[in-house]
Amino acid sequence: MILFEEVSKSYGRNITAVANISFKINTGEFVFLVGPSGAGKTTVLRLIDREILPSTGSVIVDDWEVNKLPKSKLAFLRRKVGFVFQDFKLLTDRTVGENIAVSLEILNKNRQEIDKRINQVLNIVRLEDKINYFPRQLSLGEQQRIAIGRAIAGEAKVLLADEPTGNLDPKTSWEILKIINKINKEGTTVLMASHNVDIVNSLKKRVIALNKGQLVRDKEQSRYS
Ligand SMILES: Nc1ncnc2c1ncn2[C@@H]1O[C@H](COP(=O)(O)OP(=O)(O)OP(=O)(O)O)[C@@H](O)[C@H]1O
Ligand SMILES: [Mg+2]
Repeated sequence: MILFEEVSKSYGRNITAVANISFKINTGEFVFLVGPSGAGKTTVLRLIDREILPSTGSVIVDDWEVNKLPKSKLAFLRRKVGFVFQDFKLLTDRTVGENIAVSLEILNKNRQEIDKRINQVLNIVRLEDKINYFPRQLSLGEQQRIAIGRAIAGEAKVLLADEPTGNLDPKTSWEILKIINKINKEGTTVLMASHNVDIVNSLKKRVIALNKGQLVRDKEQSRYS
């Protein structure tokens, strides 16, 4: 469950990235976050995994008030909430397997458990055969699949995806969506920022639309605009 209660985020005196927005996303939902560039989508996602703190209001993930979470609990939050970036942020000097291992090593798992989970994750994103490759040896779509694998490796309850198809061709974008949809069907809550009109319109999910930091629409089975 993700709950925003009258959340605002300002930078300095003049920039309001998010203005007094409230919404609730139940466990297991799949929600698109849409809106023009600068609308506040990335800000909303970053508030959820506490990369940034709200200026006012509260952000709640399950029974945690994220904005009040002590630093010592941040690792638990990041385990619960996986983040997929548009530009992947993979570690270029590590292999596919090692990139996924990174999010498991912080969870105090032993080598055997880590290897088992890497194989499970690579199976989910269908890249078993690339375990020893480096990111530069992969296509963009494959790199994005690894980024998704890394985000869910710690058995995340929530998957935040920030324009995960932004750099991909239509066919590859749909492959990514299939994987995200499957992860959602298995119980993970998904909140995905997207400019991809075709995908948002085809999937007919709940859509939360932002404009200039304001929440301007929140509708089930909706469309891009
Ligand atoms: N660290 C920051 N300092 C100052 N202003 C910021 C900062 N981060 C975001 N903003 C501003 O907040 C507003 C919302 O930004 P945000 O990145 O959330 O938009 P977005 O909807 O994700 O846009 P895009 O579709 O281009 O990714 C923008 O006007 C942006 O310039
Ligand atoms: Mg953004």
